[in-house]
Amino acid sequence: MEVVIVPRPEDAAILVADAYCALLDRTPDAVLGLATGSTPLPVYRELARRHRGGGLSFARARAFLLDEYVGLAAGHPERYREFIRTELERHVDFAPEAIIGPGDLDMDPLEAGPAYEERIRAAGGIDLQILGIGSDGHLAFNMPMSSLASRTRVKTLTPRTRQDNARFFDGDLDLVPTHCLTQGLATILDSRHAIMLGFGRGKAQAVREAVEGPLSSRWPASALQLHPHATVVVDEDAASQLAFGEYYRTTYAGKPAGQGL
Ligand code: PGA
Repeated sequence: MEVVIVPRPEDAAILVADAYCALLDRTPDAVLGLATGSTPLPVYRELARRHRGGGLSFARARAFLLDEYVGLAAGHPERYREFIRTELERHVDFAPEAIIGPGDLDMDPLEAGPAYEERIRAAGGIDLQILGIGSDGHLAFNMPMSSLASRTRVKTLTPRTRQDNARFFDGDLDLVPTHCLTQGLATILDSRHAIMLGFGRGKAQAVREAVEGPLSSRWPASALQLHPHATVVVDEDAASQLAFGEYYRTTYAGKPAGQGL
């Protein structure tokens, strides 16, 4: 696992956008894994900026969402598919139908997991998966104690996550769905490159446990320790509890120029 500590989220966005540019340059029909939440927003803004500048095209790319609420009507603004439409798709040049989420399969959510896994496999697997981390260490909607071998399935949201997300539902906890569909930890581990972002002091403990703690379903993001190509990009606040911060800084500073993430 490579850990990169940057001063600000905007600096992370530049590094991650560089990784997208390198991938899409090499493989224009790459398969992307997209995350929602506030964490990836600086990256999506940077991707949109580069697309406007003519340096980045998603025209041949495809993308899979990490997760989706269960029970929100199509077009509901808090559906993650809508979030991605608003925050990224609208600003770049994905082909119609190129982006799909686990809630878009038009089937009973209890049956959608295996079908979504099959869609990812049929697309050739995910080349670059971007991830946030929850303050309790969740990865996608894999809540604490999620199986490290899990695949896309329905999960029950924890009270803490529903509380965290109530801010998107006018602060009304009753409006926050109780269930979701999420890629599993094993699904995420199948991606060829996983980049996990964490910003702010509220993520510091989760980042420490994920990066330096024992591999444990208590902190689902620690599953990334099993990933052959995982990159963790964090700001100073999110890195503040890491014991090996200086080691990560020195290692990153010594990387050969042009190697990328
Ligand atoms: P956030 O959520 O990006 O809104 O902090 C991260 C997550 O819950 O995975």
